[in-house]
Amino acid sequence: MTFFTVSAFMIYFSISAGESCTKITENLHYSCMGRNLSFIPSSIPSSVQTLDFSFNVLKHLKKTVFPVLSFLQVLDLSRCQIKHIENDTFYNVKNLTTLILTGNPITYFGPGCLNSLHNLQRLVLVDVGLSSLMLQMNDLTKLQELRVGTNNIESISLPPFMSTFREFSLLDLHANNISIIKTDHTAVLREIVRNMTLILSRNPLLYIEPGAFKDIYLRELNIRSAFVSSAAQKAGLKALYGLNVKRLMFGKYRCDYKILLSDANYLDGLCFINFHEVYYYMKEKHDVPVSIFRCMINATIVAVKGGIIREIANVPFYEIKELYLISNQLDTVPGKKLAHLHTLEKLVFTNNVATQIPDFIDMPSLQYVDLSSNQITLTSCCSFFSGTPQLRYLNLSLNPQIGLSIGPFDGLDSLEILDFHHTRVVGMGYLSLFSNLKYLRYLDISYSSITFINIYCFYGLRNLNVLKIAGSNFQGDVARYLFNNLTFLEHLDMSYCRVVELHPSSFKNLQRLRLLNLRGNNLMTIDFLALPNLKQLVSLYVDKNSITSIPLHVLQSLPTNLLEFDLSSNPIDCSCSQTDFILWIIQNQKVLKNPDNIFCKTFSPSSDFRAKDFDIHSCVHKKRLTIVLSVCFVTVVVLLSFLVYRFQFYLQYCCILLRGYRSPGQQECSYDAFVIFSSYDEVWVMNELMENLENGVPPIQLCLHMRDFQAGKSIASNIIDEGIMGSRKIIVVVSQHFIDSAWCRFEFELAQSRFMMERNANIIIIILEDVEERKTKKVFGLHKHLKKNTYLKWSRDPLSNMRFWIRLRKAIIATNQ
Ligand SMILES: *[C@@H]1O[C@H](CO)[C@@H](O)[C@H](O)[C@H]1NC(C)=O
Ligand SMILES: *[C@@H]1O[C@H](CO)[C@@H](O)[C@H](O)[C@H]1NC(C)=O
Ligand SMILES: *[C@@H]1O[C@H](CO)[C@@H](O)[C@H](O)[C@H]1NC(C)=O
Ligand SMILES: *[C@@H]1O[C@H](CO)[C@@H](O)[C@H](O)[C@H]1NC(C)=O
Ligand SMILES: *[C@@H]1O[C@H](CO)[C@@H](O)[C@H](O)[C@H]1NC(C)=O
Ligand SMILES: *[C@@H]1O[C@H](CO)[C@@H](O)[C@H](O)[C@H]1NC(C)=O
Ligand SMILES: *[C@@H]1O[C@H](CO)[C@@H](O)[C@H](O)[C@H]1NC(C)=O
Ligand SMILES: *[C@@H]1O[C@H](CO)[C@@H](O)[C@H](O)[C@H]1NC(C)=O
Repeated sequence: MTFFTVSAFMIYFSISAGESCTKITENLHYSCMGRNLSFIPSSIPSSVQTLDFSFNVLKHLKKTVFPVLSFLQVLDLSRCQIKHIENDTFYNVKNLTTLILTGNPITYFGPGCLNSLHNLQRLVLVDVGLSSLMLQMNDLTKLQELRVGTNNIESISLPPFMSTFREFSLLDLHANNISIIKTDHTAVLREIVRNMTLILSRNPLLYIEPGAFKDIYLRELNIRSAFVSSAAQKAGLKALYGLNVKRLMFGKYRCDYKILLSDANYLDGLCFINFHEVYYYMKEKHDVPVSIFRCMINATIVAVKGGIIREIANVPFYEIKELYLISNQLDTVPGKKLAHLHTLEKLVFTNNVATQIPDFIDMPSLQYVDLSSNQITLTSCCSFFSGTPQLRYLNLSLNPQIGLSIGPFDGLDSLEILDFHHTRVVGMGYLSLFSNLKYLRYLDISYSSITFINIYCFYGLRNLNVLKIAGSNFQGDVARYLFNNLTFLEHLDMSYCRVVELHPSSFKNLQRLRLLNLRGNNLMTIDFLALPNLKQLVSLYVDKNSITSIPLHVLQSLPTNLLEFDLSSNPIDCSCSQTDFILWIIQNQKVLKNPDNIFCKTFSPSSDFRAKDFDIHSCVHKKRLTIVLSVCFVTVVVLLSFLVYRFQFYLQYCCILLRGYRSPGQQECSYDAFVIFSSYDEVWVMNELMENLENGVPPIQLCLHMRDFQAGKSIASNIIDEGIMGSRKIIVVVSQHFIDSAWCRFEFELAQSRFMMERNANIIIIILEDVEERKTKKVFGLHKHLKKNTYLKWSRDPLSNMRFWIRLRKAIIATNQ
């Protein structure tokens, strides 16, 4: 495993070889790990205190390798292929407190090389091919730890000068080749400070000379897997008589259940070792009943892990405070066996196969009971603990099923921590069961198959800090009131509860809430956050919900202390209508947990397009484009309306033409001539024109707008239908006023357009008064018309007057066949 990690690192870092080192803390901490470097880069400042130079290529260490780094305290040279270390190597890094040389094939140690490191406290020489502890390091008087695991050391003999190392406290000799320990090997240990940890695990110990450890004081002795055989262990434990050790760790690392042991007394040696804490990693199988605890009765902490123990004998522990029975395949919780133990404070009985809980009788000091990960199936909990009034911690998690009857925690008023997670709890959810637990701080009933029906479920939990109800269900709007009295709550886990909607007042009294976990629900909105009551919130997890967007006002009213906001794995709507929200995501990546997992689900549900990569600018462009297009459209519409208004008559005329143009043959013309004239000339038209034409012989029927136009019809329609189309001829009375009148010009233009379409039609122009030629150009077509065609000119002279009328009449009638 380690090997693979190491090679993975080597491969990974060889890629970035030659790059400068990584700054971990400015001026203080740098890592050059795995850069294939053969020198210390000049980019390392002289103020550096910690330098990780592992996995490089140094081979030959001498003075010139290290620049002057007087503040350097920690130097890691693990696996640098170092073979040779010269006397003056550490001259420039004298102030080192920690030197790590793990995994170098060192063949030569300059005799004085370590001695220049006067301040050295930790020396790590793991796996360097060391064959003896006789190192030249008599000047390292501040040395505290010497780690020389995984070497070929055959003796635990320490150099004599080490007995003066006042602070020395750790000698790690794991995985060496120590097979024999004799009394003279422990001479220095005997003199050394009484506070040392000695690790001898994974050595092939065959023989310990009896009494070799007599009167030695150790803080900890680790002899896990330190013996070649069970027999060697039995003899070895016996040989340790007279040893005083605070914590003794023995047993095995690996499971050895295949080998069956038939020696009932193999732990007898323990009776002659003075220890306070004992950790036995059993991992072996016995076919005879072993009295495991017989020699542990004076210990304060007893832990047995990984054995196959069928039963526990009645043991009169005298001072035991903590008992750990973990993974031992025990089917009974030792309740009766431990009865009347007044000293026991903590019982951890986990990963066993017990199905019931016995009565805990008269155990006044018991505070901590962990029965998690068993096979406990109960219909009625938890009266067994009536003899443990001090119980503060009860862990019944990871069991099959526990039923709670009325008043389940009666007598357990001191409970502070209660854990039922992943244990099916029957009876919770519709009863108020905790009313006496006024000190309860921590309640975990996650994944306990609970449906909350009653809003008073948590009644009485005045001091609850942590509530975990993940995987529960809520009936109706129970969630709205359930937490109302939990004013001390700081941590609420409601993940995976199938919550679709949360009423804003659900958390109204949770002013101290710091963590709210709503992961894996079906929430679409988190509008409840807009209310000011969750001011203290630091962490909010709403990942794996159905949130598509969060309105700006909610984002703006998020708690100011928020440091962690998990919004990942929601179907975020990345459309241009959400630019405020997406901009917020982009700008708040520091607060957002897993911002890389906030994906846009607008395009397709499987899209892995990150919201933070959304191009807001494209939306700005789109917006601009929309505005420009709208403005253009409006302009065009306005322009068109204006044109339509301005030329409405032409349009109407066109419409009429399109409606069906009746050719003059088929047309029943009602008038002989339509007169276009200015109203200023009306007197002349009425008195002269009408008089002369209509009353003459044959009478000519004139169409005069003020007389003949139909009421109620628009003027334009009248002009077209009655006047121009309904008359055979058109008489245009040109005068100064005619030229000035827009209506007249319009009528004339319409008349001309008929003239163009219909050759028969004719326009008869009467010049009533002289008009400047320049002005006639104002009327479209008039100037041209006057040039091309003959026209009649009105004159007051009676002779020419008479000729005028004759010519006019002729003009109207003559072409009228
Ligand atoms: C490491 O550096 C040496 C020269 O310093 C070079 O020959 C070798 O190929 C390098 N190894 C890797 C893995 O880059
Ligand atoms: C060496 O380290 C000690 C503390 O560990 C410090 O007081 C001293 O100043 C350092 N010396 C130099 C030369 O940096
Ligand atoms: C190394 O240093 C020690 C004392 O510091 C000295 O006795 C020894 O001669 C030196 N060896 C070499 C090869 O310089
Ligand atoms: C371990 O020590 C024994 C002698 O006690 C020796 O024969 C054996 O070769 C050593 N093993 C290694 C791996 O050095
Ligand atoms: C014993 O050593 C440990 C570190 O190994 C240290 O924390 C503790 O203070 C020491 N106790 C005494 C009494 O020196
Ligand atoms: C336990 O301690 C008592 C006295 O303190 C002693 O007599 C007894 O031998 C010890 N038992 C074991 C197994 O260490
Ligand atoms: C209860 O035990 C389980 C399993 O051993 C453990 O994971 C959990 O943290 C414990 N609960 C508490 C509150 O310590
Ligand atoms: C909250 O506490 C008040 C006062 O103690 C009590 O009247 C009310 O029933 C409690 N509500 C809930 C839901 O526990």
